Amino acid sequence: MKAKSPQDHLAHEIENLKQPLMGRRAISWALFLPALLAFLILPVLASLYPDSTRSFLETFGMRAAQQAQMEADKNAAPRPTPTGFALDASWNPGEVAGGHQPWANDCRVCHSESFTQVKDSDCLSCHKDIGDHVEKGKLDVTGLDGIRCAECHRDHKGQMALANQNKHYSGTNCESCHINIKANAPKSEIRDVGDFAKKHPEFRVQVATGPKKEDLRRVLLSDKEKAVEKTGLKFPHDVHLDKKGIKGPKGENVMKCADCHVGDGTGVSFKETNMKDHCQSCHELRFEPTLSNRQVPHGSVEEVLSTLREFYSYVSSNRVPDTMKVTGEILQIRPGSEEKKAPAAPLVTSGDAKTRATLAAKEMFEKTACLVCHEISKGPAVGDTKTTGSDLPQYTVAKVTPQHAWMPQAKFNHKAHDNQACTDCHKANESKKSSDVLMPSIEGCKDCHVGKQPVKNKIASDCGYCHGYHLPAHKAEEVDGKAKVTALAPSVLNTK
Ligand code: HEC
Ligand code: HEC
Ligand code: HEC
Ligand code: HEC
Ligand code: HEC
Ligand code: HEC
Ligand code: HEC
Ligand code: HEC
Ligand code: HEC
Ligand code: HEC
Repeated sequence: MKAKSPQDHLAHEIENLKQPLMGRRAISWALFLPALLAFLILPVLASLYPDSTRSFLETFGMRAAQQAQMEADKNAAPRPTPTGFALDASWNPGEVAGGHQPWANDCRVCHSESFTQVKDSDCLSCHKDIGDHVEKGKLDVTGLDGIRCAECHRDHKGQMALANQNKHYSGTNCESCHINIKANAPKSEIRDVGDFAKKHPEFRVQVATGPKKEDLRRVLLSDKEKAVEKTGLKFPHDVHLDKKGIKGPKGENVMKCADCHVGDGTGVSFKETNMKDHCQSCHELRFEPTLSNRQVPHGSVEEVLSTLREFYSYVSSNRVPDTMKVTGEILQIRPGSEEKKAPAAPLVTSGDAKTRATLAAKEMFEKTACLVCHEISKGPAVGDTKTTGSDLPQYTVAKVTPQHAWMPQAKFNHKAHDNQACTDCHKANESKKSSDVLMPSIEGCKDCHVGKQPVKNKIASDCGYCHGYHLPAHKAEEVDGKAKVTALAPSVLNTK
């Protein structure tokens, strides 16, 4: 048999194709047209004529599911009519973020206009309270209006929370402004900032120059002259953290940070230290150990003086002094320091109740108790006449500065670092005074955190990893009635 030439082959194929093609076409069309209808024509019609689509679909009961969803979500802000029963879901480029799941099939809440980019007004219809980046009217900033929400919050990247996504990807380049901040905000006083690994400056810290909120200042951590904390409280960390231990009621006591710094439950910061829970077991406020273990109440000067006055009045009128034969030391107020122990004499001297109460008050305020931890000044001349201690010498205790955030413009989290020793970041064991600022410098962070570019064994950290963006619209998250310390606060840059 003679083999077919290539030409014959080709002719045969062409002939073959011509014959059944009509049949194949019919099948293709039959499959293609419904697909076209379902995934393009209906979605587009639904998008262009939402009202008619809705009534059309309602006759088929197809909107029941959506209606139920909207019922369940009565609190949601008014929003554009959703398109048909997820007819446009086929165009979905990926799952929307966790917080947006209730609207996963409700494309119109974000895409109110077809064939255009997502508009800020769509986002704002729900996120009414979202804060600006810079306080309004404070600086003439150019460029902020030009950035859309969707440039930083892309969505459709899976169910992970959008805020988490921002840790790794801040969308619009923060550097575009911050690398040369004066270009966009000539009046700004902050320094130029770029990638964390290479161009991020040393941190600023917020310190207190006094006890009031207005006394907070943000100063450069490297400025040793200004980076000083005025606490009103005396407290040498080094003495208490002595590796050999420090004398307590039950002998030598090697103290740990956690003896005084207990997490506040947020993972971010710590509960305030206080006399009762963290000091008084060692620093007792006894005043007359020969008679009782009685201590003066801590806190109010008036109550201390009244307690002393009443106590010695009782002692005098009940002739208790006869029993007051003291041998050895009394006033165990500063445990451990032999030479600082108060002599036994003052309290045992005879005299009337007022004289003895005066002596006891002098002892406590001027020598052994209050003065150890507080800045004490004399006065006013006469006390509150409604209190029994008003005829004693009066004293004033300087206000103790309340706890405050140290780096309010960043969101540091202690929980994420709980596998590190506290002293890696805070050199507390070397600190002699409470005015020392114990905050870590940027160099330590760089051991583990690099910038945007991933590096082996390090944590890639884009700006959103450590910073928020929105001012809290002045309603910062509260924990136990206190503002959480690490919200992006309105800038209180006050370098004076
Ligand atoms: C919670 C808001 C939200 C919802 C709901 C939502 N999207 Fe999006 N979508 C976005 C954002 C944000 C973008 C980014 C677009 C931009 O830059 O303007 C986007 C982008 C897109 C894009 C462009 C793809 C791209 O990668 O740029 C398509 C297509 C799209 N969405 C389809 C849908 C469809 C279909 C639905 C409903 C099933 C839907 N979206 C629901 C917020 C949303
Ligand atoms: C230049 C980037 C950028 C732009 C533009 C932007 N955001 Fe954000 N947004 C962020 C970053 C970064 C966070 C993460 C904050 C955090 O984790 O503390 C965030 C957080 C949020 C949050 C979480 C809650 C909160 O208060 O922090 C919401 C809601 C939000 N943005 C909505 C919006 C809306 C709405 C717009 C548009 C008006 C917008 N964002 C514009 C960067 C941006
Ligand atoms: C129909 C209402 C609605 C619309 C429209 C909407 N959101 Fe949301 N968004 C929510 C709700 C509800 C949450 C979850 C609660 C929360 O975290 O505040 C949320 C959460 C977020 C979060 C933080 C969630 C997280 O991961 O912690 C960001 C960021 C956000 N939305 C940005 C946007 C942006 C950008 C747009 C516009 C493209 C948008 N949202 C449109 C209702 C909406
Ligand atoms: C359009 C320009 C622009 C963009 C984009 C921008 N910022 Fe800013 N940012 C500013 C201005 C202006 C200030 C206010 C400076 C001041 O108070 O002196 C500011 C303030 C800040 C501050 C507080 C600084 C301080 O110490 O008071 C931080 C932190 C910050 N931005 C981080 C970011 C992050 C993170 C991004 C990206 C998600 C970003 N910025 C994007 C212009 C911008
Ligand atoms: C006996 C109680 C006590 C112990 C133990 C203690 N602290 Fe403190 N700490 C305080 C008090 C009181 C303050 C507030 C006054 C001050 O600033 O010194 C404070 C303040 C701090 C501050 C913030 C103040 C600043 O200037 O930066 C840091 C950080 C700190 N301590 C870290 C530590 C670390 C780390 C340890 C363990 C190595 C530790 N502390 C152990 C009582 C204690
Ligand atoms: C475990 C017992 C113990 C606890 C708890 C304790 N201290 Fe002390 N503290 C001592 C001893 C002992 C001394 C004396 C050390 C010395 O003079 O050598 C002392 C000394 C001091 C001094 C004077 C240091 C000097 O040399 O002048 C101050 C101030 C002080 N403590 C404050 C505090 C405060 C504030 C707290 C609570 C936050 C506290 N202490 C908790 C045992 C303790
Ligand atoms: C061992 C250290 C220590 C001694 C001794 C001490 N205090 Fe205090 N005092 C503190 C601490 C810590 C605080 C702040 C937290 C608290 O209220 O417990 C404080 C707070 C105070 C306050 C509140 C200050 C403010 O900001 O409003 C007054 C008033 C006060 N003490 C008075 C006294 C008087 C009076 C004495 C003496 C009888 C005394 N303290 C002895 C540690 C001490
Ligand atoms: C690993 C954490 C980390 C990363 C990543 C990071 N920062 Fe910071 N940044 C900080 C801390 C902490 C401060 C000090 C905050 C304060 O003073 O309250 C700071 C301070 C700033 C300031 C204030 C500068 C000044 O003059 O005091 C700006 C602006 C800023 N960062 C922007 C950025 C930008 C933009 C990026 C991304 C290119 C970025 N940061 C990345 C932790 C980080
Ligand atoms: C990786 C570094 C790092 C480690 C480790 C670390 N801290 Fe901090 N700490 C910080 C930074 C940064 C701040 C400032 C946060 C702020 O206030 O904005 C801070 C703030 C504090 C403050 C003052 C603010 C407050 O909440 O009272 C105390 C106290 C403190 N740390 C104690 C500790 C103790 C105790 C440990 C160990 C359990 C510890 N830190 C471990 C970095 C660290
Ligand atoms: C010994 C390594 C190490 C050092 C040093 C270190 N970090 Fe971290 N940091 C980590 C690890 C690990 C995580 C958690 C990563 C995770 O859980 O995804 C983290 C997480 C963080 C986060 C995100 C917390 C959250 O989950 O919201 C911030 C912000 C941060 N670090 C800032 C800092 C700053 C500022 C410093 C310097 C004062 C610092 N880190 C020093 C290892 C380190």
